[in-house]
Amino acid sequence: MRVMSFYRTAIGKKVVVAVTGVVLFLFLILHMAGNLKVFAGPGVIDEYALHLRTIMEPIFGWAGVLWITRAVLLVCVVAHIVTVFLLIKQNKRARPQRYRRHHLQASTIAARLMQASGAVILIFVVLHILQFTTGDIQPAPVLFVEEDGHEMAEVYRNLHAAFSMWWVAAIYIFVMACICIHLYHGGWSFLQTLGLDNQDRNRGFRIWAWLLSFGLFVGFSSVPFCFWTGILPAPADHAADVSETH
Ligand code: HEM
Repeated sequence: MRVMSFYRTAIGKKVVVAVTGVVLFLFLILHMAGNLKVFAGPGVIDEYALHLRTIMEPIFGWAGVLWITRAVLLVCVVAHIVTVFLLIKQNKRARPQRYRRHHLQASTIAARLMQASGAVILIFVVLHILQFTTGDIQPAPVLFVEEDGHEMAEVYRNLHAAFSMWWVAAIYIFVMACICIHLYHGGWSFLQTLGLDNQDRNRGFRIWAWLLSFGLFVGFSSVPFCFWTGILPAPADHAADVSETH
């Protein structure tokens, strides 16, 4: 029961928020790297989506590794959010009324920004899965293909159809900005939790936090932006381009 008594302390909760945050951050890096395959064309990104479902198929079955990853991510998302709420409650209880009134400053603004951007991200993820993974929300038609008797989305075609609509692309870019802000502040809290922040190192840390979160923003946003502006062509045009170069 040592784990539970550690979790009951404020530092225990901060560690859980930090560790789950790092796992989710690593997922974002991998997801962004995967998304950037659209620039190599429909064949490459669709092949990659298929690959995600066939990794270690003889052992775990079709999409087995993908389901394990989904389960890990879900546990991390739930633990991250529940622990943040418990931490806020614990902090409120520990803080005297007078202190609360006089210190509505930088740290409070950052905390509110984290809560607001976190809420936006959560709503986004639910809608995003319903849009591209299950096809239940269709601002643009979502197409599926059959592979080895299993249904899976046609990634390039679906991305092109969705982001050709300016407002879908704009919403995605706005949410990516929220993620950038969330990660920047989250990165800071993480360093504080580890006790690594100090006057000499903070400037360097700040630059790194910006580079990482802004890098993710640019990488993710480049996909809706390039479909919207036509830099990334429609699937049929792309096929024509490729055959012209041969
Ligand atoms: C412009 C940004 C993004 C684009 C274009 C994009 C695109 C996609 C696509 C096409 C899929 C379906 C892939 C497939 O079926 O193989 C997907 C799945 C998913 N995306 Fe994104 N994504 C973006 C940003 C994000 C962000 C920021 C998050 C998390 C905060 C996220 C979380 C997920 C999750 C959880 C799935 C479901 C994976 C699964 O269960 O199969 N995505 N994304």
